[in-house]
Amino acid sequence: MYLTPDEEKLYDGEMGWAYQVAMRILVKLGDLYGADRLIPVGSAHISGVSYKTIGDAAIDFLNELVKGDGRVRASSTMNPSSFDPDHVMEMGIPDEVKEKQSLIIKLYEMMGIKPVLTCTPYYIERPKAGSHLAWAESSAVIYANSILGAWTNREGGPSALASALIGKTPNHGIHKAENRQPTVEVKVEAELGDMAEYGALGIYMGRILGEDIPLFSGLQDPEEDELKQLGAALASSGMTPIFHYNQRGKTVKELERVKVEQRDIEKTMEELSASMDRPDLVFIGCPHCSLKELETVARMVKGRKVRDDVKLWVCTSRYIRSKAEKYVGMIEASGGRVICDTCAVVTWLRDMGVESLMTNSAKTAYYAPTLNRVEASLAPLRKCIEAACRG
Ligand code: F3S
Repeated sequence: MYLTPDEEKLYDGEMGWAYQVAMRILVKLGDLYGADRLIPVGSAHISGVSYKTIGDAAIDFLNELVKGDGRVRASSTMNPSSFDPDHVMEMGIPDEVKEKQSLIIKLYEMMGIKPVLTCTPYYIERPKAGSHLAWAESSAVIYANSILGAWTNREGGPSALASALIGKTPNHGIHKAENRQPTVEVKVEAELGDMAEYGALGIYMGRILGEDIPLFSGLQDPEEDELKQLGAALASSGMTPIFHYNQRGKTVKELERVKVEQRDIEKTMEELSASMDRPDLVFIGCPHCSLKELETVARMVKGRKVRDDVKLWVCTSRYIRSKAEKYVGMIEASGGRVICDTCAVVTWLRDMGVESLMTNSAKTAYYAPTLNRVEASLAPLRKCIEAACRG
């Protein structure tokens, strides 16, 4: 991969250890994937923030980067952490974990990374169509590429951090127009009635597609929140970083075609739904809720009470929460909690006594049984709220 004289200096360690490590990561990846050069990025989004997922070894590495004067050169944001400091008692987080989590966030902040602690950084600052990014967090990557028209590979935590420090990313994969084209048409013949069903479509197709890039045809005026669920799920069971979509009735150029029927969606919903009398937790907000989703939940719980034996968590970013005081008030008046900075998947549910959850997120229903060791059930939002509320 070609390096400019300034990049050579970074690579050789003339600007310090932190930049040298970052350059070594980027060059290794660039060479591996056949990149010709590094290209500037408009922003980086860093995963690997939750202490639950990264543990102690990562803290030592971050410490070294800070000591080595690592400071980001691209606008950068952080993914969720392992708890919400406003609900720390309820979440039963031990002091030692609190300290370690706070240290991780502080170290990233010392490098200049904004502690937005959300997987939906695009609600805070929407990247421009056509801008190159270096984002980790698969749900944000697929949203950026498919819905916002930005260009980012599916970075891991270390490569996104390296790009943040250097302000550049290797030019390969989805940064090239020819690699963004659809390779298969997915003709959706099913009626998708709810975000959970968009998610089920994502899980179903992710398993089939592998790295193929789908063009979904036949979707019925999907909303951004529905496409968010589709993308998050597609990127969970599969590896694609981008999808395309077409409205019903539009013609599609010749591509290999896969059909999705109602029974495929129903079967996937069933597979992701463990049978349970009543969940310990109803979790809405994977990926973190938009303002509109908060409003919808607020209207559904208005005047109702959450059952004593069920927790209702609605997860969002602190930024969206600050724009939605009225809806937060309605949800909390019902006994639900609007949780920020974290989510059910990246915290310790079992330690909170949660053994089963119901969610409208196919991504959570897909991961929670293995990552959290809880039973999970995927259900439409209305059914989730019914399970959470009395009467
Ligand atoms: Fe976000 Fe947690 Fe889901 S980080 S995408 S809410 S698993």
